[in-house]
Amino acid sequence: MILQCNPKASYFAHKKEIDEVVSRVLDSGWYILGDECFAFEREFSQFNQNDFALGVASGTDALELALRAIGVGGGDQVITVSHTAVATVSAISRVGAEPVFVDILDDYTLDPEQLEMALKQIKAKVVIAVHLYGQPADMDLIMAIAEQFDVPVIEDCAQSHGALFNGKKVGSFGIAGCFSFYPTKNLGAIGDGGMLVTSNKEVYEAAKIIRQYGWKERYISEVQGINSRLDELQAAILRIKLKYLQQSNQQRQKIAQFYFDNLSDTHLFFPAKRSITEHVFHQFVVRTQNRDYLQSHLSDKQIGTAVHYPKPVHQQPAYKNPKFCPLPLTNTERFCSQILSLPMYPELSDNEVAKVCNAVNSILS
Ligand SMILES: Cc1ncc(COP(=O)(O)O)c(C=O)c1O
Repeated sequence: MILQCNPKASYFAHKKEIDEVVSRVLDSGWYILGDECFAFEREFSQFNQNDFALGVASGTDALELALRAIGVGGGDQVITVSHTAVATVSAISRVGAEPVFVDILDDYTLDPEQLEMALKQIKAKVVIAVHLYGQPADMDLIMAIAEQFDVPVIEDCAQSHGALFNGKKVGSFGIAGCFSFYPTKNLGAIGDGGMLVTSNKEVYEAAKIIRQYGWKERYISEVQGINSRLDELQAAILRIKLKYLQQSNQQRQKIAQFYFDNLSDTHLFFPAKRSITEHVFHQFVVRTQNRDYLQSHLSDKQIGTAVHYPKPVHQQPAYKNPKFCPLPLTNTERFCSQILSLPMYPELSDNEVAKVCNAVNSILS
């Protein structure tokens, strides 16, 4: 079976180093908010070109903390996309705010024109741009439009560790960037984890307090905080994996290029290639009218695929509300029945990628 994603392969690629640090942390007797987390925060902020980083328990929490740190709360409106992991939107509802959805471009990222239209219609408190599948959203345009309306931008970077827009890391454009370290991500832990990055000291200080019960000083809550900390084991493992992130992203790009070169005769829409962005291919997503047919035949040939995501958030029971959708979400609604994520992880062998291409070509020809 060729898997669609394979976090076990990522562990085995670095097993010796990971096992060593796991023992080191276990022996240390210090498991929460210690040297490993603080060192990883420093290393990740340097890697990502931000002044500050805050290790938290998940990507969803990173988004919630970013929203709370900039004062988003009950009754506020937050503009984002509906074609995303529901986590983007659950962070908005967790702070008591409401999502306002805008459409996506054919590269699956937020449509700047619709953003401008939405900002003309509503007084949004913040915009969340999602760099989906490893493809950076158009941060030049999005930042310029948001600045015109004096609205801050949070970047959801859960699927785009190391991706570049115009030579700059995603997560370094907006007021905060939020990363997930869910095991299948480009930088994946062996459990849950997340990171908020920012170069805004006030946002950092506010989020840091909220991360641990609202404490500035131990046992004294200044604000009503939560518990969302990146544990020492995950931080130590992520420090190892961060050293290899660039290399594993390059491996993903190599696999993507193989797909581009060898699937070219089929009736597929490919991921958009933009010269201004460096896509890190968290997913390699193709589009076809025959998605279900292709998926079931690939499954018969022992090739795993996935659909990210089968139902846009605004069509899911928890978020069905016409108030959240003032504008037509044409691409969002059209693409969800056509998209298919092919196998994509750095440890896929050349032979396996070739098998996927042969199988897709033979099914669609
Ligand atoms: C786009 C996006 N945003 C947010 C998240 C939330 O991350 P986590 O699962 O670590 O809470 C994810 C992870 O699935 C994601 O893909």
